[in-house]
Amino acid sequence: MEVVIVPDSAAGGELIAEAMAELLRSKPDALLGVATGSTPLPVYEALSAKVRASEVDASRARICQLDEYVSLPYGHPESYRSVVLREVVEPLGLTDASFMGPDGTADDVGAACLAYDRALAEAGGVDLQLLGIGTDGHIGFNEPCSSLASRTRIKTLTQQTRQDNARFFDGLDEVPHHVITQGIGTILEARHLVLLATGEVKADAVALAVEGPLSALVPASALQLHPHATVVVDEAAAAGL
Ligand code: GLP
Repeated sequence: MEVVIVPDSAAGGELIAEAMAELLRSKPDALLGVATGSTPLPVYEALSAKVRASEVDASRARICQLDEYVSLPYGHPESYRSVVLREVVEPLGLTDASFMGPDGTADDVGAACLAYDRALAEAGGVDLQLLGIGTDGHIGFNEPCSSLASRTRIKTLTQQTRQDNARFFDGLDEVPHHVITQGIGTILEARHLVLLATGEVKADAVALAVEGPLSALVPASALQLHPHATVVVDEAAAAGL
């Protein structure tokens, strides 16, 4: 695992956006796995800026989702489908046709999970998966104690994660309890994993993930198993290393 310490989140965003741009220059239809939350926003801003400046052609890029809330109505502004379309797909000048994600509105959520896992494989696998990290060490929505071999499936959020994500909703009661997430085993199939963590609030989780033992209690420690994993942290998030 490679750990890169950058001065701030903008520098982290620029570094990762350049890695994505480099990938797209050699593989124009690369499948980019994207994450939600506040942390990756500088990456998407920097990549969109590169596209606008014609430093990279992203017109054939494909974008896929890491996770999704269950039971939010289709088109809800905080469904991760809506978030990824708004923050990634549209700024890159792409359309829904280049985007894939799990169906959090499906009647049969289990079947939707299996279908998404299969769709990722049929698409040739994820070339670069961007990850954030939860304060409890989760990746995607794989909460602590998730199997390190897990596949895309339904999960129940911890109270901590619902509280962390309540800022995107009109209060804690509005945050769904259930989610679909790519499993840890699914995530590990991406050819390159890039985790970005910024801010002091992530320092403990980063230290456990990078320097602690491999453990299902810290899902992000699974990156230690991956042959090509890059952890990009600002100085605040690196404080425990
Ligand atoms: C959610 C997402 C994760 C993300 C995490 C951290 O739980 N499912 O993919 O990494 O939030 O979000 P933030 O970057 O806003 O701290």
